[in-house]
Amino acid sequence: MEIIGSDKLNKLGSYAFAEVDKLVANLKIEGITPIDFGVGDPTSPTPEFIRNAVKEAVDIHANTGYPSYIGQIEYRQEIVNWMKKRFGIDLNPNTEICSTLGSKETVFNFPQAFINTDDIVILPNPGYPPMKNGAIFASGIPYFVSLKEEDGFLLNYNKIPNDIAEKAKIVWINYPNSPTGTIADLEYYQGLISWAEKYNIIIASDEGCYIDIYFDKKPHSILEITKKGIITFYSLSKRNNMTGYRVGWVAGDERIIEKLKKLKTNIDSGTPNFIQAGAIKALQDESHAEKMRKEYKEKRDIMIDAFKQTGMPECKSEATFYLWLKAPNSMNGVEFAKELLSKELAIVVTPGAWISDVDENNFNPGENYVRFALVPSLPEVKTAAEKIKNFYSKK
Ligand SMILES: Cc1ncc(COP(=O)(O)O)c(C=O)c1O
Repeated sequence: MEIIGSDKLNKLGSYAFAEVDKLVANLKIEGITPIDFGVGDPTSPTPEFIRNAVKEAVDIHANTGYPSYIGQIEYRQEIVNWMKKRFGIDLNPNTEICSTLGSKETVFNFPQAFINTDDIVILPNPGYPPMKNGAIFASGIPYFVSLKEEDGFLLNYNKIPNDIAEKAKIVWINYPNSPTGTIADLEYYQGLISWAEKYNIIIASDEGCYIDIYFDKKPHSILEITKKGIITFYSLSKRNNMTGYRVGWVAGDERIIEKLKKLKTNIDSGTPNFIQAGAIKALQDESHAEKMRKEYKEKRDIMIDAFKQTGMPECKSEATFYLWLKAPNSMNGVEFAKELLSKELAIVVTPGAWISDVDENNFNPGENYVRFALVPSLPEVKTAAEKIKNFYSKK
């Protein structure tokens, strides 16, 4: 019997980190442990008070049963309280919120509720891969809008041709942006909303993954302007160091949420109740998020200072824990990433081209960039910065 993957499965890119994994493995054979800025998975533990809340809730929910598909009302109500406190938005916990298993699965599955064959899904490029792959699995056609420095890394909807916009059903945006660290202001959101309304395009705003990891300005939610035609995706993975818990939510236009709920009841069976109990506690506390923000800021400032001192291209990051750095000395991103993996430096980063696509103008906006995820410990970040300063000041 031959085992043949589907055409859609075959369209998925191969694992982008395989080549770096090989170089890392070689360094390890030589007894060198690299400092890993590659994958955006925080290395610090989930705060103790959250873990304790989950432990207690395991006993409270001894008779588990399937959890609610949309989340317990206590969890949804806590989300409503948090959104009100954070953005001043009023939301109905029954109609305008739905719990999710973190953002990834919902981002991937979402287009299936709205896309018919060959409908266009507009995507930021570079972008979070499930946005593109979810569009493909929904039989849609991805249309990439490259995020360029000249546009402040904002998705420039004005550059999207009319005929594309007319066939588009969804536009994905992601601010605070991974990997560029850009924040969108309300003026940008207002412009995007007017544009999307004109073409009847749903705005899917993956804004909640890094919304609380910011440095100077507090990021807004697009929902502060309107809920009409908009769905936002939120996750506790990064805000609360809860990547392993798989918990988040969506909020926005009740007509969109209703259709997503219908889809989700056919896909998953809800976030476990004891995880929701941990999520409630996580949302009630701001101090741990504040502490985390300070730590990321310190790491960001140390790295940006090292880049400045060695004459690297300017690198700004207003939010998230990513630094999107243009490769120096006429190297492309892959060459720079390989140089950083040399024995003297032993620093792992992600080449930009691996997390971005070639757009319709045959341009890959990540080609000359690398992404640093500020997830190593503070002492490791300090060591990496010193190594960069020593290595590149000699060049
Ligand atoms: C831009 C963006 N959105 C969403 C997610 C999903 O996170 P999770 O599925 O852990 O909630 C990630 C994770 O890295 C991300 O970078």
